[in-house]
Amino acid sequence: MWTMAALEGRVAIVTGAGQGLGREHALLFAAEGAYVVVNDVGPGLAHAVVEEITAAGGRAIAHTDSVSDWSAAEGLVEAAVQGFGDLHVVVNNAGILRDRMLVNMTEEEFDSVVDVNLKGTFAVGHFAARYWREQSKLGHDVDRALINTSSGAGMQPGVGQTNYAAAKAGIAAMTQVWSKELKRVGVRVNGIAPFARTQTTQATPGLVERLAETESDPDFDPYHPGNISPLVAYLASTDCIMTGHVFRVVGDLIGVYEGWHLVDTFENGRRWEIPGVAKALSSVPAEPVVEPPKMP
Ligand SMILES: NC(=O)c1ccc[n+]([C@@H]2O[C@H](COP(=O)([O-])OP(=O)(O)OC[C@H]3O[C@@H](n4cnc5c(N)ncnc54)[C@H](O)[C@@H]3O)[C@@H](O)[C@H]2O)c1
Repeated sequence: MWTMAALEGRVAIVTGAGQGLGREHALLFAAEGAYVVVNDVGPGLAHAVVEEITAAGGRAIAHTDSVSDWSAAEGLVEAAVQGFGDLHVVVNNAGILRDRMLVNMTEEEFDSVVDVNLKGTFAVGHFAARYWREQSKLGHDVDRALINTSSGAGMQPGVGQTNYAAAKAGIAAMTQVWSKELKRVGVRVNGIAPFARTQTTQATPGLVERLAETESDPDFDPYHPGNISPLVAYLASTDCIMTGHVFRVVGDLIGVYEGWHLVDTFENGRRWEIPGVAKALSSVPAEPVVEPPKMP
């Protein structure tokens, strides 16, 4: 068990932390001794969370610019370093959802989802990595952690989410790239694919009733957004040695994903003829089995 607060003295940025999962991460991080930069573009949201943290005796500052704005992402990293003297943890959590079937999806719906989720994660990750590389060159080697927010929609995609699935699968891929690139500067990079009750999921047709059912359970609410944060806090802590993973996290379940991998191979010894391809692939199912993301 922890002998002290799990994140004592850690300086952390949590993006999109004005509500939902990000707010829960920020509150838990602060309660566990972290200095938190609460980022959110929603009017008044970041400041309200900062007030909540400081009222409880924690340390936090607000940052209200968009993560997908290149210079704002640089400013976010600077805000942590100037405000609290260093940066140990980044939780890329900001995200938006604009579901639509492929035939109806607009350019704006595609661009905005990729902009916030994928580019926002890249932009903040980029400037944090630059800072961390500088620190490593200066010999300031301490454990640093980056946690990206993917989704079951990116890992086990379904219909209506061309934009979101592409962005979230891209985030899982970036997580693996960064874990390899940043190892030598002492940064661990992991991802989560969460599920919980937030304004986003509450507005999703089909999920509303399921989420409402458990809301008043006094013993354990499997869809409470706070269920996601202990894993994120663990990944952010110096006790964690893991890097390059993406975890499913919902209710009391923590799952470990494995990425795309070959399940079968066929070789011909020379360039294939088309009939040979057909024959070789005759044992492969017409469609792959993609299970839906795990739920309680
Ligand atoms: N809730 C779930 O079940 C679930 C499932 C899978 C993935 N996720 C992911 O988890 C993350 C949090 O989701 P949530 O459900 O808490 O959503 P939420 O909408 O409750 O919170 C997201 C926050 O991000 C902020 N935000 C949006 N664009 C931003 C930008 N450009 N810069 C800074 N902040 C921005 C919003 O203002 C909002 O407060 C998202 O990345 C989401 O895709 C959530």
